[in-house]
Amino acid sequence: MSDLSTSIKKLYFDFPVFNASGILGATESEIKKVLESEAGAVVIKSVTLEKRPGNTGVRFYWDDIGSINSMGLPNQGIDYYCNLADKLTKYNKPVILSIAGFKEDDYKKIIAKADKVPFSAIEVNLSCPNIEGKGIFAYDYKTMFRLLKDLRKKSKKVLGVKLPPYTQREQIKGIAENFVKIGIDFITTMNTFPLSTYIDYQKETMRIKPNMGIGGLGGKAVKQIALAQVLLFKEYSNGKLPIIAVGGISSAADVYEFILIGATAVQIGTALLKNDTKIFVQIKKDLSTLLKEKKVKRLSDKIGNLKYL
Ligand SMILES: Cc1cc2nc3c(=O)[nH]c(=O)nc-3n(C[C@H](O)[C@H](O)[C@H](O)COP(=O)(O)O)c2cc1C
Repeated sequence: MSDLSTSIKKLYFDFPVFNASGILGATESEIKKVLESEAGAVVIKSVTLEKRPGNTGVRFYWDDIGSINSMGLPNQGIDYYCNLADKLTKYNKPVILSIAGFKEDDYKKIIAKADKVPFSAIEVNLSCPNIEGKGIFAYDYKTMFRLLKDLRKKSKKVLGVKLPPYTQREQIKGIAENFVKIGIDFITTMNTFPLSTYIDYQKETMRIKPNMGIGGLGGKAVKQIALAQVLLFKEYSNGKLPIIAVGGISSAADVYEFILIGATAVQIGTALLKNDTKIFVQIKKDLSTLLKEKKVKRLSDKIGNLKYL
């Protein structure tokens, strides 16, 4: 069987496919369910300083094309997850904590707590599109770089940043160059595409309730966008920023495409919601078959190994 393993700094993935933040990973039983599945790691739901119920009403909808959500960061609060950290080490898989805040100080307080317990890495979510009245940090470059410099100084953990999609090459270039300078260990791209909506023409209503029915788009609809984000971050960081890809991944072929374009690992959101953890079993089986057919001995040899026409 081909070797499916990859690594980022101290993070070793024997199978580099796992859940995206916000899909399973919000409670102890969900986190354990991912760790007990074929997934190569777990990402914990973005946590805030205090426990939050999130937005009210219908806040998630999906169809064959994609998904829309405006969850509003429902989670148990940082202390709940810190108290769990010790119990999760026995699985011997990376446990990545995603953190979110409403102001810079929130991130600093959360990371101070998270740094004291055995999480394997921290994914700083600067890209949540679903908090009413709050902008997306990752679109405010000055604030983002200032905050990350500070978090980098404060944290000894493997430190990654979850980014939203960008629409201009210059934005990606500026971020990639600054992240390399700051010493960011990896990026996760991408969060949902903000300002999207679904409507129900039969009922003549929006599909979700919060924020006038507007939320973040995920699923198959965003895969082509996510692929290009990975390529450009790889290119503009001169390969110095390892990338965890997320966006529209649901099959072994998708995983292979993202590896070829430069990802070191991938996460699954919408397709995990639809298929539950059996999707990891299917992808592992299909990816092994694919690599065998292609006579690829090590998946990691294929990272970024794509040819331009
Ligand atoms: C229901 C739902 C909740 C999400 N919650 C979070 C979250 O808490 N933190 C985060 O960084 N991303 C969150 N996301 C975004 C996903 O992690 C992922 O980046 C996005 O859905 C694109 O992947 P996909 O196309 O596989 O769904 C959420 C997505 C969905 C659908």
